[in-house]
Amino acid sequence: MTKMAAVYTSFVLIMLLMVSSCLCYCPLEKSYNTGNCSYRFHCIRVIQDIGLPEHCQGSTNYHVKVNVYLSDAIDRFDKSMNPKFLYSITSLRASGVWPQTNLSLIQYMPQLQTLNISGNQIEKITENAFYTLTQLEYLDLSHNRLSDVEGLFEFEMLPNRMRHLNLAHNEIQQIPSSAFENLTSLIELDLSYNLISYLDENSFDNLTNLETLRLNNNNIKNQIGALNALGNLTNLYLSKNEIQIIDDDSLELLKHLVILDVSWNQLDVLTPELFLRHWQHFEGRAVCKILLSENHLTFLPNATSVELMSRFTRHDHHKKRVDVLTKLDLSKNSITTIEYNAFRYLVRLTSLDLSQNKLTNFRVNADDLVYIEYLNLSKNYITQLNLECFLSMNRLQNLDLSNNYIDGIPDLLFINNYQLKRIDMKFNDLKVLENLHIKIFHPDEGILDLSNNAIYKMNIPSGEGMRLKKLMLQSNNISDPTNIDLKHQIDLEHIDMSNNYIQYLNSSSLCLPTNITHLDLSYNDISKIAPATFHKFRQLKTLRLSHNDLTGIEYGIFQGMTSLVYLNLSNNDISYLDSKVFIDLRSLYILSIEHNSMIFLDYKGWVAHKHELKVYIDGNNFTCDWLGTALSDYNNNFSKMRPYALNGGTGKHSLQGIPCVQKEIGELVQIDSKSGTLTDSDRLLAVNLKILEAIKNQTYVLRKFMWHSLYAESKNI
Ligand SMILES: *[C@@H]1O[C@H](CO)[C@@H](O)[C@H](O)[C@H]1NC(C)=O
Ligand SMILES: *[C@@H]1O[C@H](CO)[C@@H](O)[C@H](O)[C@H]1NC(C)=O
Ligand SMILES: *[C@@H]1O[C@H](CO)[C@@H](O)[C@H](O)[C@H]1NC(C)=O
Ligand SMILES: *[C@@H]1O[C@H](CO)[C@@H](O)[C@H](O)[C@H]1NC(C)=O
Ligand SMILES: *[C@@H]1O[C@H](CO)[C@@H](O)[C@H](O)[C@H]1NC(C)=O
Ligand SMILES: *[C@@H]1O[C@H](CO)[C@@H](O)[C@H](O)[C@H]1NC(C)=O
Ligand SMILES: *[C@@H]1O[C@H](CO)[C@@H](O)[C@H](O)[C@H]1NC(C)=O
Ligand SMILES: *[C@@H]1O[C@H](CO)[C@@H](O)[C@H](O)[C@H]1NC(C)=O
Ligand SMILES: *[C@@H]1O[C@H](CO)[C@@H](O)[C@H](O)[C@H]1NC(C)=O
Ligand SMILES: *[C@@H]1O[C@H](CO)[C@@H](O)[C@H](O)[C@H]1NC(C)=O
Ligand SMILES: *[C@@H]1O[C@H](CO)[C@@H](O)[C@H](O)[C@H]1NC(C)=O
Ligand SMILES: *[C@@H]1O[C@H](CO)[C@@H](O)[C@H](O)[C@H]1NC(C)=O
Repeated sequence: MTKMAAVYTSFVLIMLLMVSSCLCYCPLEKSYNTGNCSYRFHCIRVIQDIGLPEHCQGSTNYHVKVNVYLSDAIDRFDKSMNPKFLYSITSLRASGVWPQTNLSLIQYMPQLQTLNISGNQIEKITENAFYTLTQLEYLDLSHNRLSDVEGLFEFEMLPNRMRHLNLAHNEIQQIPSSAFENLTSLIELDLSYNLISYLDENSFDNLTNLETLRLNNNNIKNQIGALNALGNLTNLYLSKNEIQIIDDDSLELLKHLVILDVSWNQLDVLTPELFLRHWQHFEGRAVCKILLSENHLTFLPNATSVELMSRFTRHDHHKKRVDVLTKLDLSKNSITTIEYNAFRYLVRLTSLDLSQNKLTNFRVNADDLVYIEYLNLSKNYITQLNLECFLSMNRLQNLDLSNNYIDGIPDLLFINNYQLKRIDMKFNDLKVLENLHIKIFHPDEGILDLSNNAIYKMNIPSGEGMRLKKLMLQSNNISDPTNIDLKHQIDLEHIDMSNNYIQYLNSSSLCLPTNITHLDLSYNDISKIAPATFHKFRQLKTLRLSHNDLTGIEYGIFQGMTSLVYLNLSNNDISYLDSKVFIDLRSLYILSIEHNSMIFLDYKGWVAHKHELKVYIDGNNFTCDWLGTALSDYNNNFSKMRPYALNGGTGKHSLQGIPCVQKEIGELVQIDSKSGTLTDSDRLLAVNLKILEAIKNQTYVLRKFMWHSLYAESKNI
């Protein structure tokens, strides 16, 4: 009986708990006091059973801020709600499913400044729903299914205060001419991702304060002139529409834009006046962006009108500091021709993207390029580089010439550039670069990408290529590495010569600066490396020799490489390795020898290695006996070598996730499956080394102790 009673009471308790959590619409543990009379609440379903402290109600000295997030919101008001509390709400985000709504709840929240009812599947809002919200500044109606906004933005009091209105991701097809007529304070209007195809001239008439208008991802064709009334507009987003022409009517508006994004449209003609910017509008300071990529442009005509030229001259006659820069994106069009003066109207062009067009050359008025820092000419059909243009670009930092048909770099091309950070010339037709002149790179970065050409010979003379830090030469036609002479470029740290045709290396093969730190020679045909090949390169930290034809490593190959940390010998044909060939590699931390069909690795040489050495060994034929001993020698601290696997294995033929080969009876394995492992005397040696070190430590401590006591004694005297 008592047992039954206990079960019964606990059931009642659970019921009670459930009921009380149901009642708790605005749980206390989800509310925060964020300042004097400033609160954040999270309510579920309805806003109920909640109030503010006495001193924050009614007329109060404090600036009351009440921020409510209502999830699973029900759109209704009933008498059980606390009207005083509703009255005090200043910010509401409500999420629910309200296909039809008259927003009855917010009628009781006249203090609302921010209202977010985004993502509520709203199809229709009753007219005048926001009528009483005279304080509203920020309204987010995005991600709903609104198609009609007629009569929605009517307000009791004018002038209206709304500054931001977000209607993005709805189903609006047309903007009624008077819909926004009283939103005279609006600064930002987002109408992106709708179905708007027509812009009515009167729709935007009163939005004289509007600065940002987003109309991207609609179906707008040609009526940009309808935006002319937007006298303070600075950012106009029109990408992903169906605009075919920017008519003369619209040019007036464009002059004071800082950002004009017309990318992903169907423009096929460009008037040079589109580039004009009237810098009085920018208070002397702006970074203008003109985005025209993904259109159908084929031709950039000369700027012609002399009259306009003088009006918008790039020199300011009033000696006022004018700091207006322009970035122009014309990528992904079909431009074949750029006339000499096409960029005349641009104010200080600093960035020009002409990638993915059909240019065969790039030759424009050099005066228009003097401010250029970024130039992208990638993926065109350029065969030659125009000297005059490049000579004027002495601020150039980032140059992309990749994927063209360039077969040479003119001698003086880079003579005036002192700011270069990256030059990308991959995928061109370069074969020989004799006496390449690139005086000096930027202190922060110096990268030259010459990969995927057909280079077999190159040299940079002494005094050139200063601060060049990284050089990419992979996938070229290098078979004789002595033809790559870079020994004077003492700032070079990183050289990639992978994927070439090098077969043989000796101590005079690599004419590289002695202080490189990274060298990649993988994916060549190297079958033989003579002793002392790398001994000049004492700073080398990473050396990649994977994917070659090496069958063995001779003693002395890695002579003197005391800084090497990472060595990759994977994917060769090495069947046997003796750790003694690595004896100079005191800093070695990772050794990759996967995929070599190796049978054994003698690790005796690493008994006294400075620190743990990770050796990646999968893809070989090590026996499980060998692996077991190697692992136990590591675990017992006899050896510093720790076997690892990049692609682990499971099951019978693996140990600690490392695959191994089970020696089967009758199998023709000539060598002892444990050869290369430590003998007992090696292990004894390891123990002795440790004892020796401990003794050394102790003598040090002893000496310190003795010195201290001697010192103390001498002071006592
Ligand atoms: C709250 O008000 C008191 C005095 O009215 C003031 O000293 C204090 O800085 C205020 N705190 C916050 C977070 O505003
Ligand atoms: C709003 O709609 C609800 C039903 O959804 C209704 O009960 C209420 O009377 C309506 N309020 C107004 C002001 O029309
Ligand atoms: C409005 O709420 C949605 C989620 O409901 C959120 O993604 C969005 O950022 C909010 N808008 C603002 C301006 O906070
Ligand atoms: C804008 O305000 C005027 C003057 O109060 C009013 O006549 C008109 O109906 C309002 N328009 C809208 C769309 O609310
Ligand atoms: C808005 O524009 C209408 C004409 O479309 C005009 O009658 C009205 O006075 C304007 N309202 C304001 C506040 O400028
Ligand atoms: C720009 O805004 C200012 C201040 O808000 C206003 O005085 C001015 O008339 C607007 N300019 C234009 C051209 O509408
Ligand atoms: C463009 O301008 C340049 C320099 O003024 C001139 O040589 C060239 O003929 C012009 N092109 C056309 C088509 O007018
Ligand atoms: C140049 O343009 C191409 C193609 O548009 C792009 O992939 C590449 O990243 C750009 N280069 C730079 C340096 O930004
Ligand atoms: C690469 O160099 C060899 C001579 O070493 C030459 O026969 C071959 O045509 C070159 N390949 C290319 C793509 O230039
Ligand atoms: C590279 O080595 C040269 C001498 O060969 C030396 O003058 C230079 O300072 C070194 N540079 C770096 C970054 O260590
Ligand atoms: C390594 O083992 C595979 C089969 O597991 C065998 O085909 C291959 O010949 C062996 N390689 C050597 C070098 O023993
Ligand atoms: C010797 O001392 C060093 C530094 O205090 C310590 O890292 C090392 O583990 C010690 N060696 C032994 C064997 O105690």
